[in-house]
Amino acid sequence: MGTGWRALLDEATRRLTESGVDSPRVDAEFLAAHVAGVSRGGLFAAAAPTSAQAKKFRSLVERRAAREPLQHVLGTAPFRYAELAVGPGVFVPRPETEQLAEWALARLATVAAPLVVDLCAGSGAIGHAIVSERPDAVVVLVEKYPEAANWLRRNLDGVAARVVEADAVSPETLSDLDGQCDAVLSNPPYVPTSTAVSPEVAADPATAVFGGSCGLDVIRPLIPRAARLLRPGGVVAIEHDDSHGAVVPELLTAAGFADATDHDDLTGRPRFATATLPPRGLARLAGCEAL
Ligand SMILES: C[S@@+](CC[C@H](N)C(=O)[O-])C[C@H]1O[C@@H](n2cnc3c(N)ncnc32)[C@H](O)[C@@H]1O
Repeated sequence: MGTGWRALLDEATRRLTESGVDSPRVDAEFLAAHVAGVSRGGLFAAAAPTSAQAKKFRSLVERRAAREPLQHVLGTAPFRYAELAVGPGVFVPRPETEQLAEWALARLATVAAPLVVDLCAGSGAIGHAIVSERPDAVVVLVEKYPEAANWLRRNLDGVAARVVEADAVSPETLSDLDGQCDAVLSNPPYVPTSTAVSPEVAADPATAVFGGSCGLDVIRPLIPRAARLLRPGGVVAIEHDDSHGAVVPELLTAAGFADATDHDDLTGRPRFATATLPPRGLARLAGCEAL
């Protein structure tokens, strides 16, 4: 890297540090790489910035210093092997959700042409990963809110998957698939409403982040909906708040699911619960609403 980029990066790192950005140097490098048109690693061999590039870089750094999410400034967010388009109106996919997708891909490895539903799809991160990495899968993605659904359609454009704009917890949604799905996967809104969030999280739509006073407003009805969608032996995976590592498996068990298990994320926090629908799982569904 020439001294030009190094000096700009040092200046940007100072500016982002003052603004309270968590990873100032890394963010500065992503922004510089974006402006230079290279990967972050490629920045070190990049030509010195032109004055137009330096001006553009400083303007992007100012947006990030105002705590606009890095992914909004860049216009994309990485998720497994894909770069998804993101911006205001859609939830920025997070690395921890990649583990849920990885779990599902492993569980589906022996199922030919699996039918997979991604409920609360947002940018389409989970469903996009499944259909990209299992091209024989039949994937249906459901998103309720129109602005998010626009981003979803954009990310799934040209991808062999079905996008449905509807309420994921309504019994009518995808009722044509009841009893047939091999996997129901979901990263629903789950943060308890009173939780203080960073400016970056506040830039996500509130309807994507918050799940009511205890965080379970969407998860509760989603569990019986998943049970009805699944075939016997089908699996469910639901991401949840780190305070819900016990209750979500309990809700799954109460709904008639077997093998309810919770999984930690890479930071060791409880992050998603999985379970299997046994042949007689639907018989106990009524118990879920009581919890
Ligand atoms: C936490 S975001 C997750 C988005 C994406 N699945 C991901 O992992 O990045 C939750 C998404 O669920 C959507 N959503 C909230 N309630 C919903 C409902 N009842 N039916 C369908 N989508 C819903 C929100 O608009 C948002 O896009």
